[in-house]
Amino acid sequence: MIVCVCKSVSDRKIRASIAEGIDSFDELQFELGVASCCGKCEESVRDVMAQSGVCASRCAVEHHAQPVPLMFYERKAA
Ligand code: FES
Repeated sequence: MIVCVCKSVSDRKIRASIAEGIDSFDELQFELGVASCCGKCEESVRDVMAQSGVCASRCAVEHHAQPVPLMFYERKAA
């Protein structure tokens, strides 16, 4: 299925790029040109990314299946 009509990019091509190591929206945009013309495909591209296990948010941060434990440190008075 074509995800980006302007650049004729399919979901298959996006998934192949992710399989080759692309792991952020910015990289996909740079390599494939998605969402670089009218921009209407951005949400669909992010959906394909999410389905492929890559963070679809704008932060480009990978989300882990297991939550990373947070550590809090208490500041001691001098
Ligand atoms: S549909 Fe992707 S930039 Fe227009």
